[in-house]
Amino acid sequence: MKISNDIEYIGVDDHEIDLFEGQYIVENGMSYNSYLIKDEKIAVLDTVDAHFTEKWLDNVKHALHSRHPDYLIIQHMEPDHSASISHFMERYKDTKIVATAKAFVMMKQFFGTDFGDKKIVVGEGDTLSLGKHTLTFVMAPMVHWPEVMVTYDSCDKVLFSADGFGKFGALDIEDDWACEARRYYIGIVGKYGAQVQTLLKKASQLDIEIICPLHGPVLKEDLSYYLNLYQIWSSYSVETEGVMIAYTSIYGNTKKAVELLADKLREKGCTKVVVSDLARYDMAEAVEDAFRYSKLVLATTTYNNGIFPFMREFIHHLTERNFQNRIVGFIENGTWAPVAAKTMKQMLDTCKNLTFTDTTVQIKSALSEESRAQLEAFANELSSDDTI
Ligand SMILES: [Fe+2]
Ligand SMILES: [Fe+2]
Repeated sequence: MKISNDIEYIGVDDHEIDLFEGQYIVENGMSYNSYLIKDEKIAVLDTVDAHFTEKWLDNVKHALHSRHPDYLIIQHMEPDHSASISHFMERYKDTKIVATAKAFVMMKQFFGTDFGDKKIVVGEGDTLSLGKHTLTFVMAPMVHWPEVMVTYDSCDKVLFSADGFGKFGALDIEDDWACEARRYYIGIVGKYGAQVQTLLKKASQLDIEIICPLHGPVLKEDLSYYLNLYQIWSSYSVETEGVMIAYTSIYGNTKKAVELLADKLREKGCTKVVVSDLARYDMAEAVEDAFRYSKLVLATTTYNNGIFPFMREFIHHLTERNFQNRIVGFIENGTWAPVAAKTMKQMLDTCKNLTFTDTTVQIKSALSEESRAQLEAFANELSSDDTI
């Protein structure tokens, strides 16, 4: 696949994977992108996952047309992109590897060698001339590993963005970019909003027409759409006004309360109400929605003098990703000593700029007249103009 006259896509699609990075469900598979720039010199950007080394090496060979690669540029050392480095170097012994100093330390850790005399260490603003293409390396530490850099080609105005602007899903399946890019971003990069902001600032100084990420499609048109979403996600801003209700329910009573709340919210004019059963739905999808919408309702049962495990896990996912800037309310259930609301609030203690609703709904075992009245007040508060 041609990206431009001189740049070719040489990545692979993975439909065999069960869990990406050992935890993310990827029903539409995954792509590991790699690119080749052909000029007076030839550069290959990044390798692929270990399961696809041979296929990728075939792609490299095919794109080379009997020429020899001069440089292998490594932007990120996570094994989904770096696992095939040593195989590549066995085949193309004279190729130089271009990467950050930290990346070479990681190569030594992963492969037992940092490729000694083959290495070219680059830092912020360093350039590499291939002929008419001059590549500039831009450091992107903690987006989302410390050794990461991105690469700008001023000739074709291409930003090779490493994992930035990546998404779940193989390239031979068409799906909505934002949904799977958001789940990818929040899940994998979400904690590092400040570092992404720094990178976006650097990128804003560059004239970019094409973004080539390491996962998902090459982005060519309407780049402001993608940049704007990255701006929102990395600043932890609200993307969509609406209420996300995350719940767990053991015997169905908490679920009943949640469904009643959702109905009330819709009746009162909330157009966006999404509900997630944390024990049954994809946890990463629920986490993504918590970061997407303006308001979050957490509903769970008191359990072992704390809260139900799936809710505990969910809140951990939020706090470790710097969840902030949202309105949050609670529904708790408990038969003899309800402590769920208190526990959830304590767990969110470290989050910045959360506003808690005045109403907390307490269910004692099952819905009662009293808890129904609390739900009504809760729905009013969540749908009122000053909170919407
Ligand atoms: Fe990564
Ligand atoms: Fe990746």
